[in-house]
Amino acid sequence: MNPMKVGLLGLGVVGGGTWNVLSRNAEEIARRAGRRIDITRIAVRDVAKARARLGDAVALSDQATDVVRDPEVDIVVELIGGIEPARTLVLEAISNGKHIVTANKALLAKHGNEIFAAASAQGVMVAFEAAVAGGIPIIKAIREGLTANRIQWVAGIINGTTNYILSEMRSRGMSFGDALAEAQRLGYAEADPTFDVEGVDAAHKLTLLASMAFGVPVQFSKAHIEGISSLASEDIALAERLGYRIKLLGITKQRPDGIELRVHPALVPNDRLLANVEGAMNAVMVSGDAVGPTLYYGQGAGEEPTASAVVADLVDVTRLHTADPGNRVPHLGFQPDAMSDMPILPIEQVITSYYLRLSVDDQPGVLADLARLLADLRISIGSMIQEPSGDAAADIIFITHEAREGDVDQAIARIESLAFVRSKVTRLRIENLA
Ligand code: NDP
Ligand code: HSE
Repeated sequence: MNPMKVGLLGLGVVGGGTWNVLSRNAEEIARRAGRRIDITRIAVRDVAKARARLGDAVALSDQATDVVRDPEVDIVVELIGGIEPARTLVLEAISNGKHIVTANKALLAKHGNEIFAAASAQGVMVAFEAAVAGGIPIIKAIREGLTANRIQWVAGIINGTTNYILSEMRSRGMSFGDALAEAQRLGYAEADPTFDVEGVDAAHKLTLLASMAFGVPVQFSKAHIEGISSLASEDIALAERLGYRIKLLGITKQRPDGIELRVHPALVPNDRLLANVEGAMNAVMVSGDAVGPTLYYGQGAGEEPTASAVVADLVDVTRLHTADPGNRVPHLGFQPDAMSDMPILPIEQVITSYYLRLSVDDQPGVLADLARLLADLRISIGSMIQEPSGDAAADIIFITHEAREGDVDQAIARIESLAFVRSKVTRLRIENLA
């Protein structure tokens, strides 16, 4: 049988890894796919650099349109990243009848609805396993392996760069800046690393996971996003003392009134598996009504782990491209005409537990006033510690039971207006992942 012909856009970290894996494992992959999968054309910006790496093994161009318009190319693999020109190139490739494989979560989180609709109209596939959690086959797991279930929630460490930074800061006392530079050197970070550290990359991925878990359209603009750049090392150390690790989590939950969709640092009890996921590793928990909680763990970023997912998609497309489009796995796991309009809940309606840290005058009545204020807003204290911090001041940390975020916002505003309170309140959410 003729080989499947692939056009590659980009030969960076993931593109280079894809070339390596596809070349090294060509025979094994052909045995699985039923035919060879060959990269026949590559577009990059710097052809000389690519030529130095690959020699004359493949046609190279600095014009991405040479790939998406090549009549010989069956599948376009988009690995250049960002929104433009990636969006225009993907849409043109689709209109030229080509299947798409992409690792570009930013593109799909913002323009997924448009791209999936265009692909469905054209009868082509858009495969994106590499876009979420690198080498972990989480999309296959949710869309296919767990398809019998009503998914209840998904929670995970889905950004390798921030997990690497938090791990290095906690275990080796590395500074935030040094840990980020190392993550960049290792190829984990996005072209713009603020996407990683401000939680945007994790929110791109979470948005896609939520759509596949609950059958709702892709709604990145409704995600609540907080990153790790303003996290104090004091809180990392205090969390440790209290029996927690701080992780940047992506959490999406189906509730009767809507869907929670949020990315933020969270305290995770240190006996939970997720608390022990270190370095650039990712882990995703998915809970379904039939299966219960399940856990998926692996390398969430980097050259060959991500290429593993890209090549798996190439094999899937090769196996399925002759199938009737109506019988393929839908892009988001639900039939396009059966999507739900369940709303995404604003952050004020989220319900979870909280860590609240503040500095107060060390004087009689302070604790009683704080406890009364919290009780008035239906916030129940699970535990607290108080430590003198010099200059007649004390640091107080409250761990609350589950409360509504809007009530906690009000409590914080009232606490900060009290005369005996010396600091802003540091608020971190706690996720027990039970
Ligand atoms: P890199 O920056 O390493 O590589 C980008 C590649 O795209 C380079 O080869 C660059 O060419 C090429 N390129 C950029 N613009 C154009 C253009 N207009 N026309 C043709 N080629 C172009 O990125 P990564 O490999 O790290 O990331 C690629 C995608 O994979 C992104 O969407 C990213 O979010 C995603 N991803 C990355 C992971 C990782 O671990 N790095 C993991 C999972 C997903 P040149 O080298 O000549 O400049
Ligand atoms: N920058 C991303 C991360 C790459 O660190 O997880 C993988 O998507």
